Amino acid sequence: MIDCTISKLSEFVGQEVRLSGWLYNKRSSGKIKFLMVRDGTGLVQVIMVRDELAEDIFSKFGDLTQESSIIVCGTVRAEPRSPGGFEIGLTNLEIVQIAEPYPITKKEHGVDFLHNNRHLWLRSSRQFAIMQIRNQVIFAIREFFHKRQFVLVDSPILTGSIGEEASTLFSTEYFKMGKAYLAQTGQLYIEAACMAFRNVFCFGPTFRAEKSDTRRHLTEFWMIEAEMAYCDSEGSMKLQEEMISYAVASVLENCGEHLVKLERDISKLEQIKTPFPRIDYGDAIKTLQEKGSKIQWGNDLGAEDETIISMMHDKPVFICNYPRAAKAFYMKENPDDPKTVLCSDLLGPEGYGEIIGGSQREDDYDKLLAKIKEEKLPVDAYEWYLDLRKYGSVPHSGYGLGIERTITWICGIKHIREAIPFPRMMTRLYP
Ligand code: 4AD
Ligand code: MG
Repeated sequence: MIDCTISKLSEFVGQEVRLSGWLYNKRSSGKIKFLMVRDGTGLVQVIMVRDELAEDIFSKFGDLTQESSIIVCGTVRAEPRSPGGFEIGLTNLEIVQIAEPYPITKKEHGVDFLHNNRHLWLRSSRQFAIMQIRNQVIFAIREFFHKRQFVLVDSPILTGSIGEEASTLFSTEYFKMGKAYLAQTGQLYIEAACMAFRNVFCFGPTFRAEKSDTRRHLTEFWMIEAEMAYCDSEGSMKLQEEMISYAVASVLENCGEHLVKLERDISKLEQIKTPFPRIDYGDAIKTLQEKGSKIQWGNDLGAEDETIISMMHDKPVFICNYPRAAKAFYMKENPDDPKTVLCSDLLGPEGYGEIIGGSQREDDYDKLLAKIKEEKLPVDAYEWYLDLRKYGSVPHSGYGLGIERTITWICGIKHIREAIPFPRMMTRLYP
């Protein structure tokens, strides 16, 4: 007997295999019983025929409850009408455990109920599809960087300096040293690393105590960040559009069945190819005002503004060179217009909003120090960061991609909380 997984059934047509998994659901039609079995790699229909089985095996059907753990043996048959294209004619059935009545059934459940049962909900086919796509996106982006000789440099999670914005910090007591902060970004550290390794990236959890209970916000989310020495803002945008196109192509190539499960409009994803449009911030403001937004020059784009712009395009769109006051302290002043900085936000299409924030970094020691003081940040915590502008300072740029916002868009789902295995939000720490 061959031990096999559902994902590998195509290699064993006509042979008898053993599958270990769980009962997804079951149905009966007289002398024939059907088991839908999942094993973590896929779903397959298993058929039990009364006339072909001993009574003690056939009668086990009645005992089986949803999510009971089982081992089935049977012959693999090609069956184009079956999900996955194969079915199994059962020859033996072993019960590992009969599950208690399972809380998640075929009927409609409320969102809160499902999230309270997230530890079980992950087994459902929709959630399975989303997590498989997440896995593919992360794999593809790592592969993208490795192919380009980017070096992975892990940045710390406990930090002494503020990465993005003081108002959204989580802090914790740190022995006798006062407060430590949970990283909002790995950027400052990979700026140091890019001066050592040229092109670097990091990928880790980041934390924001944002009091925004929206479908785009998590308090803990995963970010892929890249940082490149001797690279300007335009060079960074080019890399971003290539990275996004690469990740989407990889999902289209490897996750077709999962996209179908999610009823994703695949033609929308097929349009994601370089180059992406670039819109100057000032022009974006004019367009938004024409469309009725109350936004003024100087404001950051609100979620609704992002939606308006992003609905106007089939591809992700860069909004470039925001006003200095609307953005973080480390962004480089625009030499052509010092009221603005050399930066870009990449907005996902179909109304999904910002998925990447990036910029060229201020590489001038005096300007950076002045900005740190202006924002009343503690200069001593940034001494090491300022050092980078003393010892061989060069133009450098980088960006951060929010993984969950990207997954939400690629999967075409409504809410970010389904794009991460165990979401952390303002009002959720369980499970
Ligand atoms: O635009 P942000 O704040 O940029 C940075 O943190 C830079 N230091 C990155 C860099 O240049 N290395 O965040 C980057 C991305 C956003 O575009 C968004 O996709 C995601 O992180 N993000 C969030 N995702 C989920 N929940 C939140 N609360 C998020 N805040 C930001
Ligand atoms: Mg941003």
